[in-house]
Amino acid sequence: MDLKNVNLIGNVGAGTMGHATALQFAMHGYPVNLFDQDSASLDRGIVTIQHDLATFDRAGLLAEEPATILERIHPTTDLQTAFAHADFIIESITENLDVKRTVWQAIEQVIQPNTIMATNTSGLDPTALQSGLAHPERFVVAHFWNPAQLMPLVEVVPGQATDTATVDLTVHLMNHIGKHAVPLKKASLGFVGNRIQLAVLREALHIVDQGIATPEAVDDIIKYSLGRRWSLVGPIASADLGGLDVFTNISSYLYQDLANDTGTDPVLQAKVQAGELGLKSGHGFYNWTGAAGQQLVAQRDADLLALLKADHDTENPS
Ligand code: NAI
Repeated sequence: MDLKNVNLIGNVGAGTMGHATALQFAMHGYPVNLFDQDSASLDRGIVTIQHDLATFDRAGLLAEEPATILERIHPTTDLQTAFAHADFIIESITENLDVKRTVWQAIEQVIQPNTIMATNTSGLDPTALQSGLAHPERFVVAHFWNPAQLMPLVEVVPGQATDTATVDLTVHLMNHIGKHAVPLKKASLGFVGNRIQLAVLREALHIVDQGIATPEAVDDIIKYSLGRRWSLVGPIASADLGGLDVFTNISSYLYQDLANDTGTDPVLQAKVQAGELGLKSGHGFYNWTGAAGQQLVAQRDADLLALLKADHDTENPS
């Protein structure tokens, strides 16, 4: 299937991720059938979409009136209505293998012969997800990052039975709707982004646990060094720039001292056992009682929006 054959999007799930994927397609001209099993979730999803549209409008990021974009999104709780004519389906429902497999098998009963089926799983194995399907070759992972209306990356991950054409079409489509799609050669636990995020987190928590630095110090060190650099030049190109002889040398004495636990993280587990879950419980490594957490999220999203605007202005010079 070519990009020009993609005319209608089916979107499964209207929650944190699903509302944002529906909006992303609608903002780029696609009609979207937004399906959820729960009509209250659909209502909430539409309200969130309206809120995001207003934010994008204020930032000058919309090529059309918000109402025109919203009209392209058709909420429904009926599977047949949602997917019978869809050319590309993106699913963001509960992160559970059995739930996802059941829903995809039901969807496959009503779709056309060429429809591409994409799941926004955070890390379930695409080979396991596609194994119950009659046409696993048209099934792929399209892993967006939260908040999906603001973060550019989509990891496109094939299962063992996925066709190359399915990966290619998904990459083209994601780029066409303004995302930055990166295909992986094959699936791995955590794909790539979460493998690296967790490797960094394991070491950051080890540093705190060893009394080397406070959580605040670790976060500042990343924000003012690697965080800035990696948004411009990734870790592998950075090693090239620094000299591979230098990095070889550092690895020779440093790797042996780095965290290498293989089980559940002991520092995180202790926090969870103490009821300290972070922002949602008011305490984690920081104190989140009061408005500080919401303010941090709002500031982060405002800064992400500014970066999106800068990307948009570079791509659309006046
Ligand atoms: P959510 O809980 O906000 O939304 C899930 C939605 O799916 C709800 O509206 C629910 O009513 C609906 N739903 C559940 N089961 C359903 C079914 N059987 N049929 C139809 N609708 C159903 O969840 P969220 O955070 O949007 O996550 C969805 C998926 O996206 C998960 O696989 C998650 O791992 C993945 N993801 C989540 C990220 C995050 O940071 N929240 C980041 C990247 C991926």
